[in-house]
Amino acid sequence: MATRRAKISVIGAGFVGSTCAHWAASRELGDVVLIDINGDAAKGRALDLHESSPVEGFDSNITGGSDYALTQDSDVVIITAGLPRKPGMSRDDLLSTNAKIVKECAEQSAKFSPHSVLIIVSNPLDAMCHVAMKASGFPRERVLGMAGVLDGARFRSFIARELDVSVEDVQAFVFGGHGDTMVPMPRYVTVGGIPLEQLLSKEKIDAIVDRTRKGGAEIVNLLKTGSAYYAPSAAAVQMAEAIIKDKKRYLPCAVLLQGEYGTKDLFCGVVAKLGAKGLESIPTLSLNSEEKAMFEKSAASVKELVEAMAKLGV
Ligand code: NAI
Ligand code: 2OP
Repeated sequence: MATRRAKISVIGAGFVGSTCAHWAASRELGDVVLIDINGDAAKGRALDLHESSPVEGFDSNITGGSDYALTQDSDVVIITAGLPRKPGMSRDDLLSTNAKIVKECAEQSAKFSPHSVLIIVSNPLDAMCHVAMKASGFPRERVLGMAGVLDGARFRSFIARELDVSVEDVQAFVFGGHGDTMVPMPRYVTVGGIPLEQLLSKEKIDAIVDRTRKGGAEIVNLLKTGSAYYAPSAAAVQMAEAIIKDKKRYLPCAVLLQGEYGTKDLFCGVVAKLGAKGLESIPTLSLNSEEKAMFEKSAASVKELVEAMAKLGV
């Protein structure tokens, strides 16, 4: 019986993109294509990764270059192309630069893979999801933003360290936009089924929530020349896996809200069910007044960026 391997394309072969390719290929999620404006770098990284396959024992085919024809008929396209913020650059500079890059990447990806699911990683994340949705013309089910799995993983890893327990037993997620206003949700955290509030003091939980919100900056301050990539790429690939294997997982990610949580026409992080169709449904969680206020504040900051893009004409 002829079967077809899944195909995952990763646009932007920098730190996040090439590490996405690594996780995806080594888990044999499918064949992997790496695309970058610097085609030789993408080709070189793809070849290097492919040459590791006999040692690691995986059978994914990895190719790379700058030609989007390589991405034809991908099931999932992960967009990581874009600049990280540099000294002297305003937020608006980054916004317009990355918006132009993401627009081009989403247009080309949609042209060659009209049935794919797009997973956006480029920052500022929630705003870039708007750009990708418009440029691709895809419905909201097939444009998802990666941030919640990453921010949730940071939250989970800090809790596991504090309690000296396995990360496998810590369930936690983060709501809201991917920025300083993100909303870690300690009330919903469980450790081996036990509510976190029964295991840690309020002071300790507050400190972990604060560290989670600043998790991206903590890594930037240590690396000095760039931002995190191991955890971000692992998170993007977990989303891709949920789609490719139709796992129907509840994962926190940025989706276009259409009235859920009182928010309309705005990408924002919530827990969503991911399966073969991409976004399959959005469970409605009850938020208390404090969580609701924090979510609304976070959504407002995403809206500000979307409006800034409109003013810049991007
Ligand atoms: P990087 O600088 O290592 O890689 C970016 C790559 O994009 C470069 O190889 C560059 O040549 C490529 N590129 C630029 N313009 C392009 C175009 N028009 N077409 C194709 N490729 C193009 O940066 P890194 O560390 O991989 O980060 C990538 C993006 O992901 C940044 O915007 C970063 O802020 C964001 N990010 C988002 C996270 C999230 O949680 N959503 C987490 C980590 C990073
Ligand atoms: C992060 O949270 C930079 O958005 C990126 O690490």
